[in-house]
Amino acid sequence: SVSSAFDFAPNLFPLSSTAQGYTALGTPSNPALDPSNALNGGSLEKNKSITYLNGLSLVVGLIIGSGIFSSPSQVNRNAGSPGASLLVWVVAGILAWTGAASYAELGGAIPLNGGAQVYLSKIFGEWAGFLFTWCAVCVLKPGSAAIIAIIFGEYLVRVVIGADAADASTWLNKGVALVGLVIVTLLNCISTKLGTRSADVFMFLKFVALMGVTVVGIVVAITGFSYKGQANEDWKKQGWFEGTNTNVSNWAVALYAGLWAFDGWDNVNYVTAEFKNPSRDLPRVIHTSLPLVIIFYILANISYFLVLPTSIIESSNTVAVAFGSQVFGPIGSLVLALFVAGSCFGALNATTFTSGRLVYAAGKEGYLPALFGNIGLGKSHRAIRLHTLNANPPKSKFTRKFIDWFADADAGFFFTPIAAMTLNAVLTAIYILIGSFDTLVTFYGVAGYTFYFLAVLGLIILRVKEPTLERPYKTWITTPIIFCCVSLFLLSRAVFAQPFQTLLVLAFMAAGLIIWFAWVGRRRNKERERFRSTGSEGDEKVGWKFWRRWRS
Ligand code: ARG
Repeated sequence: SVSSAFDFAPNLFPLSSTAQGYTALGTPSNPALDPSNALNGGSLEKNKSITYLNGLSLVVGLIIGSGIFSSPSQVNRNAGSPGASLLVWVVAGILAWTGAASYAELGGAIPLNGGAQVYLSKIFGEWAGFLFTWCAVCVLKPGSAAIIAIIFGEYLVRVVIGADAADASTWLNKGVALVGLVIVTLLNCISTKLGTRSADVFMFLKFVALMGVTVVGIVVAITGFSYKGQANEDWKKQGWFEGTNTNVSNWAVALYAGLWAFDGWDNVNYVTAEFKNPSRDLPRVIHTSLPLVIIFYILANISYFLVLPTSIIESSNTVAVAFGSQVFGPIGSLVLALFVAGSCFGALNATTFTSGRLVYAAGKEGYLPALFGNIGLGKSHRAIRLHTLNANPPKSKFTRKFIDWFADADAGFFFTPIAAMTLNAVLTAIYILIGSFDTLVTFYGVAGYTFYFLAVLGLIILRVKEPTLERPYKTWITTPIIFCCVSLFLLSRAVFAQPFQTLLVLAFMAAGLIIWFAWVGRRRNKERERFRSTGSEGDEKVGWKFWRRWRS
């Protein structure tokens, strides 16, 4: 049965504790799992095991994370009124919904692992796929991890010092965020199983926290009961749209914050190819999970408004703590803070796992220095096991046990992409140190939506260029068009709204393009030439299976 995102890992990522593509003797056991096919997927056959309910819980679980407990302040400050904020949440949700539907079509039409990297490569050329991978490694993955870690830090600090303590020092928050990052990275370096086993617990925590806020908010609104007496009455006196901001750029910033909470919808593709009955169940999953999340988020926001004065919602990233404190007093704020911190820890763990695989695959593909495509503690790590167990088995049972523990590919201890995860952790730490929730959310949003936009634009191009391509799921053509228009608006306003973050993203992209055209791309072309002239297997690397199907 499918219980968490990690259950799919062996198909998604070429490397996991159980599917590293190596037998105990160190030879590739299954060509589909050979890391050299890492970015292009390689394997077209997947185990078709996902049912409708599996897919539903997977998508909902991937999306709900830190955002609904942290974004409301930025949304409210920039939208200006409760009514306008709710509107922003609806627009953000619909954007995510249209995006997810578009990605599902892409995933069906181009059934390879790798997500946007593969779609952009196939549609625009490999440079676009490289640019995505480069930005994912430098901006998207560490940026999102930093946001989640910062929210983890802010909530955990409030568990310890209490909700009512005036705003804790930023550096204390960041310190705790860094500690969380280090712990999660270490866990993931030691073993993938350590982290993945606990995923379900964290999943449970966030559902309880979100349900708690929603249900309690409604009860408080009806009964008027709350620990601190009168619940918020602002909304009774004041019109829902009073104070609405008229500056379009502020709306863009508010949208970026809302979109953060809905982010993760692109992972719909993790499930596209693995449905038992994709053409029936995939649309059902998308068209129930996204509306479900939208409704949950709207209800949670209404709960915040009914219970808390707008000024409090606007002033902190830990709105759930303020909520708990208002309704249940110190105990309530403590419990909610613990739950949200737990939810963030789980999200950080999941994203560290996937980042490790992404950076690793990029290293294998030659997109990054080969060092990052290493597994474990380097060559010597595997050599210890091979040499000691096969060539020269140690006599002592204890030594054998120790070596098994240390270097067994199946047990997975330290058999993880350690270099890749270290790179990710270092970049994440830098973002935690120099960024804040508000700045990072826009930074992440600008970079993320540039690629979402390009991929969905690619869907439209593909419809024109390859009208007969097999598409297990086809959206209405209005869906990608709406997505492209709204995200184009969003991206065009970013420069005015947050010039610094936008320029930084552009600088990263420019650097990526330079690296491609001066170096990586040239090498790839040379490799390809060599494969062509020698007639070797090399074409596999550019996904010939896909092209063959496409052409026929
Ligand atoms: N929506 C999630 C949250 O609110 C963020 C998901 C991060 N995105 C990702 N692809 N890992 O925390």
